[in-house]
Amino acid sequence: MTTPQTIYCANPGAEFQEDRADLLSVMAATLDRGTYILGGEVSAFEREFAAFVGGGDCIGVANGTDAIVYALKGLGLQPGDEVVTVSHTAVATVAAIEMIGAEPVFADIDATTRCMCPKSLRSVLSPRVKAIVVVHIYGQPAQVDEIVALASEWGIPVIEDCAQAHGAMIGSRRVGSIGHISAFSFYPTKNLGALGDGGGIVVRDDTALAERIRILRQYGWKERYVSLVAGGNSRLDEVQAAILRYRLAKLNERNKRRQGVANLYNEAFIGLPITLPTEIVGTTHVYHQYVIESEERDALKEHLAKVGVIAALHYPLAVHQQPAYEGRIRGGGSLPTTEALYRRLLSLPVYPQLTPEQVEQVTRGVRSYWGK
Ligand SMILES: Cc1ncc(COP(=O)(O)O)c(C=O)c1O
Repeated sequence: MTTPQTIYCANPGAEFQEDRADLLSVMAATLDRGTYILGGEVSAFEREFAAFVGGGDCIGVANGTDAIVYALKGLGLQPGDEVVTVSHTAVATVAAIEMIGAEPVFADIDATTRCMCPKSLRSVLSPRVKAIVVVHIYGQPAQVDEIVALASEWGIPVIEDCAQAHGAMIGSRRVGSIGHISAFSFYPTKNLGALGDGGGIVVRDDTALAERIRILRQYGWKERYVSLVAGGNSRLDEVQAAILRYRLAKLNERNKRRQGVANLYNEAFIGLPITLPTEIVGTTHVYHQYVIESEERDALKEHLAKVGVIAALHYPLAVHQQPAYEGRIRGGGSLPTTEALYRRLLSLPVYPQLTPEQVEQVTRGVRSYWGK
């Protein structure tokens, strides 16, 4: 009998191996052209990615955190303004808000979508709130239409944090095309991942806003060496853009493979005392993570490690529970649904290159914990 391999939640190396021959020639051709930052590959990727999301303008930036930072800057957020988001997110979402001197405020999540709860959002809105950052966590679309409707009552913009949801849909619309502006990460483990850092902003239909952000990402330049406004440096490089163009063409198919793994898990786990991720009717989940909930989460995680399945916590602590944020964010004292989820959540391996044998190893591992 062969020893089972260790299976991790994500495996960017396996994706590289699948693409290896093609990507090496894509990278070589890009390097041979002799432009390395913000050149033809970046502009072509920006056009193609904007079209994929649903139109508008895309601005490539250095990473997903900066995508939120520059979206907020472009919208004119000022130090001291409040921005409502969720505590159930990568810490990057909240870090980005504080990086511009704004103040995060937490709304609770909905237990089914695990994304921002519109009712909880309503309870924290105030005249100081100048933007909302809604996160499509794990690849599951949030209730953006309800959130945009509520935001428009207050005249404030909605930023979609799509770092975990490239290609996810609400009806026939892709996430990133519903709020006023959206932010993407292309970190290597993402559904659309580069081989280094990368990020992108999509502006739905406001060319002036897109132009402002484009200028801000490079020292406030429209024309080289002339700073019209005080900007910064957050540029996407040519090699990452070329890799992203190659992978964008494969994104739908790779998301389908993630959904295929999720379907196999859903079938195999019927009857077990765990809560499975919910596919909300009318939306398409792209399974950046496949997250179950169990009262016996820690024991199950330990059991899985013994059979070579490294399940993970996304995340071990919600943002308001992290030492850097504890006790100082408005709304952080009243997040019962978020806190209940954090006691129970567990991410199982999901990525397009998982083999049927590996899926079987995971399902056998989970089932065997309950003696099935
Ligand atoms: C929800 C969310 N927002 C923002 C980010 C930040 O992206 P990056 O790591 O590219 O800065 C990430 C990625 O970690 C994320 O998962």
